[in-house]
Amino acid sequence: FKVPAIDNEPMVTYAPGSPERQALRAAIAQMEQELPFEVPCIVNGEAVKTGVFGKQPLPHDHANHLCAYHEADEATVAKAIDGALAAKGEWESMPWNDRAAIFLKAADLVSGKYRYKLMAATILGQGKNVWQAEIDAAAELADFFRFGVKFVEELYAQQPSKNSAGAWNRVEYRALEGFVLAVSPFNFTAIGGNLPGTPALVGNVVLWKPSPAATYSNYLIHQILTEAGVPPGVIQFVPGPPPEVVGQAISHPSFAALHFTGSTFVFKKLWKDIAANLDKYKGYPRIVGETGGKNFHIVHKSAEVRNAVLQSVRAAFEYQGQKCSALSRLYVSQSVWEGGFKDQFLEEVAKIKVGPPQDWSNFMGPVIGRPAYDKIMGYIQKAKEAGGEILIGGTGDDSKGYFIQPTVILSKDPKSITITEEIFGPVITVYVFPDSAFTSTLSLIDTTTTYALTGAIFSSDRSALLQATNVLRNAAGNVYYNEKCTGAVVGQQPFGGARASGTNDKAGSVSIFYRFVSARSIKENF
Ligand code: SER
Repeated sequence: FKVPAIDNEPMVTYAPGSPERQALRAAIAQMEQELPFEVPCIVNGEAVKTGVFGKQPLPHDHANHLCAYHEADEATVAKAIDGALAAKGEWESMPWNDRAAIFLKAADLVSGKYRYKLMAATILGQGKNVWQAEIDAAAELADFFRFGVKFVEELYAQQPSKNSAGAWNRVEYRALEGFVLAVSPFNFTAIGGNLPGTPALVGNVVLWKPSPAATYSNYLIHQILTEAGVPPGVIQFVPGPPPEVVGQAISHPSFAALHFTGSTFVFKKLWKDIAANLDKYKGYPRIVGETGGKNFHIVHKSAEVRNAVLQSVRAAFEYQGQKCSALSRLYVSQSVWEGGFKDQFLEEVAKIKVGPPQDWSNFMGPVIGRPAYDKIMGYIQKAKEAGGEILIGGTGDDSKGYFIQPTVILSKDPKSITITEEIFGPVITVYVFPDSAFTSTLSLIDTTTTYALTGAIFSSDRSALLQATNVLRNAAGNVYYNEKCTGAVVGQQPFGGARASGTNDKAGSVSIFYRFVSARSIKENF
């Protein structure tokens, strides 16, 4: 069989007066009325209530919470692992077209029946504005499931190119022996679905620990996958504190892989913990991670100024700078900076409205929580102390929600703290370089941080683009010419970075699926 033709989920614009706008409004209002929700662990298809609660506060209104979730305890995690291993045989031997059909149906549930509910949970719980939620919880999540099916079809089609007389060589792509641990982040609901979804699609069973700050949207994804036909036990939903869930999972002899998105610090720690447990395992676990970034734009003297300005504003401040791909260091050629870029950039930033994400006029919502708020405000303070000039913003208000004004810092020091360290918030540092120093600035970009996730080059001179691409060969896994460094589209720009930014296994492409299968070559003689 052949998987039906697929395309990226079309984006809804929510134009004033449109039925979609009305439907989304209604879904948000209903959720606001019904919250807080109670979220159990889901183990073997059953709700498990441990009675020990964690909370997912509303970032725009921290006195209230979207849900209280039952934290998985040791017994629940043990039961989840045993149940997953018991479900494995039937799931991995299920004909591939049946697994494919389940994920195609899940994509349709995301883009149809559950679209507005999932978006409402993302807007209220994770602080995304409507359009950011549409990109993420509707379009990208549906794309991950639909394109995932297409990618697996491509993977399975990879077969030896030659048979000898009387024999047939073939390769079978088996699920990993054991279970996969998926640890997902708060910042993309879609990644919440993709981290357990990708390994499950190729027949693995998964223990899924969602981010505490995205519990409710991720719980809805689990419901969608169940409704689409993922059998009980295949994806076990176990929110809870890291030591219990993650620690227990990686010390289990059947631990086979980690599929992680989150901070560099945590990923490194888990890698070391896994290494320390190596002798316990049956095999060598696969470790797949997408972590931090310190992403750049470089604006050459030949750049089209208006475009570079607008793309930079979007890359730095959409979703409050909390995308791993977000722009946080901006290198601008002096003649461009002084010739209009600075004024236009600050003018656009000044227009940004910050407030509750369900108010459609707000471009920026709150940052995710208390630790994030304190960390970001701390960096702004440190920048001031180190002589950085705050061109705009620099203030926050955490009285009701965690709101921080979009902040632009001008630094004369190319290695200042806000240029080198990941802040993960609405703070961008600008470094202005002499027009004649384009080449040395490229080297500076390459050597300033340990990250290598995304970057963009703005120039109308193709030789400058080429030069930058060459010098920055290893400085980013995703590079854009004359376009912002955020917003990779599934199936169009495989996403991921190297160095401290991750294992660069490229979500949204066939590559990542190779990491969750173990190939077996079969030679049959007739
Ligand atoms: N894939 C997202 C982007 O490119 C980040 O996770 O912006």
